[in-house]
Amino acid sequence: MGGRELLYVQEAFRENWLSSVGPNLNQLEAELGRLSGLTAAALVSGTAGIHLGLKLLGIKAGDEVVTPTLSFAASCNPILYEHAVPVLIDSNRETWNLDPDLLTEFLRKRADAGRLPKAVIVVHLFGQCADLDPILASCAEYGVPVLEDAAEALGASYKGKAPGTLGDVGVYSFNGNKIITSSGGGALVSRRQEWVDKARFWSQQARDSGIDYTHSELGYNYRMSNVLAGIALGQLEVLAERVEQRRAIAFRYRDAFADLPGITLMPQAPYGLHTNWLSCFLIEEERFGLSQRDLISFLKEANVESRPVWKPMHTQPLYQGAECVGGDVAEHLNRHGICLPSSSSLPLEHQQFVIDCIWEAHAQAQRA
Ligand SMILES: Cc1ncc(COP(=O)(O)O)c(C=O)c1O
Repeated sequence: MGGRELLYVQEAFRENWLSSVGPNLNQLEAELGRLSGLTAAALVSGTAGIHLGLKLLGIKAGDEVVTPTLSFAASCNPILYEHAVPVLIDSNRETWNLDPDLLTEFLRKRADAGRLPKAVIVVHLFGQCADLDPILASCAEYGVPVLEDAAEALGASYKGKAPGTLGDVGVYSFNGNKIITSSGGGALVSRRQEWVDKARFWSQQARDSGIDYTHSELGYNYRMSNVLAGIALGQLEVLAERVEQRRAIAFRYRDAFADLPGITLMPQAPYGLHTNWLSCFLIEEERFGLSQRDLISFLKEANVESRPVWKPMHTQPLYQGAECVGGDVAEHLNRHGICLPSSSSLPLEHQQFVIDCIWEAHAQAQRA
């Protein structure tokens, strides 16, 4: 926490706005609007944002939606909420994000076959934007709308612009593990005011105007609470600082591993600012001496938590049988990529401990 979150929360208690309406919510939406240059709706989660975003794009049962296979399940699951059909596409090695060439080729083939997907979800993984220009150009060429899942990339930039603001709909997350958090929460942004109004309407049970409880449409209980909006407001004030802290941790690890063979930081694409929300590294087993899994076990023994890079959707039991274009890059990244402790509050001595453990893992492997 940055320090001022509690002031906003106390204000909510003092004014008795302990509800899904109130001044913190209004202010949060205004702040997010200012940050993105668009209109925002505050929601209970990023997942809810993706779900409502797909509904705004008109996704219905049986429609195909393209999404990267390498992501957290929450990027993909809302497709199933609408009984639509995910089509998974591989990442490229340069960014770890959706491969624009594979997407373009896929759209071209599907256009020829007269079977274009109804939408594309682009995910900005681990704090780094996907290469949006070619992706947006291909989608525009074939008239396919784009939803940007920027859950992991708040504070990043793509050619000077904020992720989430370049597609038709953008989504952010304030989940507990994100770069800033409201303990749980999310937001949807769009340049279309009427879409954001619609998302807000759906998020509040889609209750028609008037005093009667009249419902013409299916709604959801997806609205953020005014109390949690207070936490988000305080956190937004320290977003830039958190970005600096996350980047400093990643670069500290990178520099400390400069002379260590077989461990390299996730590529930092030249077109934008990578927040390094998570410090992700690739382990080359031959050179490092240990596999990613063995390094994770070694770190666990030392009480250091680390995780593999996301398990691709096409390898998940839930998505068995889903069409997947490519997949080798995502599988490689999942097998060899490791996410190291990255919290903004990680003290320097803990960062050093992680560094020492990784050097020791390598040294022990050399001796064995
Ligand atoms: C890529 C990605 N998309 C979506 C989400 C969902 O966000 P939330 O947890 O706020 O529902 C997350 C994280 O949780 C995520 O990492």
